[in-house]
Amino acid sequence: MKKIVIHSPGDYNQLQIEEHKIPEPLDNEILIKVFFVGINYADILIRWGVYKSAKDFIGWPITPGFELSGIVEKVGSKVSKLKKGDQVFAVTRFGGYTSYISLEEDFVFKLPKNLTLEQGAAFPAVYLTAYHALLQNIVIRKGAKILIHSCAGGVGSALLQLSRYLQYETTGIVGSTHKIEVAKKLGANHVIDKSKSDLWKEVEKISPSGYDVVLDANGASTLKDSYLHLAPSGKLLCYGFHSMLPKTGGKLNYLQLIWTFLKTPRFNPLDMTDKNKSLVTFNLSYLFDKRDMFREAIEHMVQLIEIGEITGPETTIFEFEKVGEAHKALESGKTTGKVILRCP
Ligand SMILES: NC(=O)c1ccc[n+]([C@@H]2O[C@H](COP(=O)([O-])OP(=O)(O)OC[C@H]3O[C@@H](n4cnc5c(N)ncnc54)[C@H](OP(=O)(O)O)[C@@H]3O)[C@@H](O)[C@H]2O)c1
Repeated sequence: MKKIVIHSPGDYNQLQIEEHKIPEPLDNEILIKVFFVGINYADILIRWGVYKSAKDFIGWPITPGFELSGIVEKVGSKVSKLKKGDQVFAVTRFGGYTSYISLEEDFVFKLPKNLTLEQGAAFPAVYLTAYHALLQNIVIRKGAKILIHSCAGGVGSALLQLSRYLQYETTGIVGSTHKIEVAKKLGANHVIDKSKSDLWKEVEKISPSGYDVVLDANGASTLKDSYLHLAPSGKLLCYGFHSMLPKTGGKLNYLQLIWTFLKTPRFNPLDMTDKNKSLVTFNLSYLFDKRDMFREAIEHMVQLIEIGEITGPETTIFEFEKVGEAHKALESGKTTGKVILRCP
């Protein structure tokens, strides 16, 4: 079987395709023949060697990949919910860039009937992130005003679709004009193209009294203003820091990294209490032990997919051996929806 392995941090050339032995499933495991693998921004951080949980749980060498879809090839003796031949999608803490994988039954799910295998690989990570942000962390009331940065990307698409279902009023921000239509189609009530307008003026025009929730994965470039634009009782959900990182060249820029680290705002609980504003943060890669929480989220979202309330993100497919180009595309900040790999 084929597997993409990174032996040391660096650019696209570090993504080596290697031949490995197909694993034998343990009693509680399912062997999946993988058809598609979802690529997440975190995979790029792993390649650069700056993703903390990759260091904490795996080290080097590492195979990135949090999600995939395929067909069950073989099941362990204690597996009860799935059988050989079932179409499935799965989540995994690393190791997903591979043509066969053996995973515990808890992390493998039957593909819903109106989801393709492509969408199955693109769905779990970004939807689990969006679900955890909107439904497992804080209470948000119907009609709440939600501001979503990078709303046409992977997580952004999922946030917009779930917000439409939950009847929130969304303002989506995009960094390029070609993303406006994508955001509108996903249900954004208002879209701001920050490449063409004064972002914070537009944000204030749409909701002069501020926002109940702001979802920000930019980090230093917007976090402070996102906080300032919260309404009383507002929550700033911070779940990424991609403005610390370069969009081209495939290599880390250490000056940019240090500068944006120093520019990342520090929050003062004394001030926050009087202003009734909160900061909420999370990293799902440290929450894999919370199996019930993951299962509850996936089962609810599968129901929503089956009744047509939400759908899998739009996908751009790259062949397995073009993994470097797939990383380059996602790194550029120009993609919409999800980038996925087709396995050999
Ligand atoms: N905490 C968690 O558990 C968790 C889980 C999943 C994802 N995340 C985070 O969520 C964010 C989105 O992840 P994703 O996989 O769905 O990616 P994505 O949204 O498909 O792509 C990232 C988007 O961020 C914007 N961006 C701004 N500065 C950028 C830069 N320097 N480099 C690249 N993109 C930049 C671009 O959109 P615009 O130009 O339109 O703004 C780009 O399209 C990432 O920061 C990721 O680390 C966190």
